Amino acid sequence: MDLGLKDRVAIVAASSTGLGRAVAMGLAREGAKVALCARTEDVLNATAEEIHRETGVETLARALDVTDHGQVARFVAETNQRFGRVDICVANAGGPPSKSFAETTVEDWHAAANLNLMSTVYLAKETLPLMQVRRWGRFIAITSMTVKQPVEGLILSNSVRAGVSGLIKTLSNEYGPYNVLVNNVCPGFTATARLMDLSRTLAGKQGVAPAEIEERWAKQAPLGRIGQPEEFANVVVFLASERASYVTGVSISVDGGIVKGMY
Ligand SMILES: NC(=O)c1ccc[n+]([C@@H]2O[C@H](COP(=O)([O-])OP(=O)(O)OC[C@H]3O[C@@H](n4cnc5c(N)ncnc54)[C@H](OP(=O)(O)O)[C@@H]3O)[C@@H](O)[C@H]2O)c1
Repeated sequence: MDLGLKDRVAIVAASSTGLGRAVAMGLAREGAKVALCARTEDVLNATAEEIHRETGVETLARALDVTDHGQVARFVAETNQRFGRVDICVANAGGPPSKSFAETTVEDWHAAANLNLMSTVYLAKETLPLMQVRRWGRFIAITSMTVKQPVEGLILSNSVRAGVSGLIKTLSNEYGPYNVLVNNVCPGFTATARLMDLSRTLAGKQGVAPAEIEERWAKQAPLGRIGQPEEFANVVVFLASERASYVTGVSISVDGGIVKGMY
């Protein structure tokens, strides 16, 4: 299937490692030009160079924090100026820490809202008008299985990401008339640095080996294993493509079947 992504321009936020990196690489393999960002400049530049080396596509990399609206606005404007347009935006960020409600502070709640909800708002504010005028666009949020089924110990994610789902569904209504599709992709346990950090944290708290935690996660999925970042990225790349032209306003799980609900 030709995905029709050649020469499209994609912003992939928080893309130096993990899911964001896999999505940026996946889009580049289909011929899209990609603009990447993350806070740690050397890791980010190495990823952008690797993507360029492997795929030959043009990349732009800027070190920034997605919780800073000004930095996001400058990044989007620079991408638009450099490549002439922005067709696709994948909103991503790190995840909030694993805590029980009793362990959280009010500052933790503000930080989680800034990291996951407000960063998505900033990216949407800056990119959707650019897509709207061209009557073609794809805005895709990376959230979590927590939007469909709360995960124990992740109250910040369980709460704040539900707001992102509401935002995405509402934006799909507002921008559908302009042929701008807005969707949400919800990863389950996927083998990235963040997941390995989480397994070490939980293992420390429970006095077991990280491998045991990972084994428990794998068993929760009917597929019996943790996912790979490329398996997640494949779904995002499809949604970003020409071929997903009648799909908008959905929250798609890429979780090996962990979520027990029917939808
Ligand atoms: N992996 C999973 O199993 C899983 C499951 C459910 C949900 N998720 C969610 O999916 C998202 C991506 O997870 P991941 O596993 O790919 O994490 P990861 O491997 O830790 O990668 C996170 C990426 O985001 C960047 N980043 C973090 N905070 C940022 C900020 N404030 N501004 C700009 N860039 C930032 C990081 O680079 P810098 O640190 O250099 O900025 C890095 O490039 C997270 O929200 C996570 O909670 C992951």
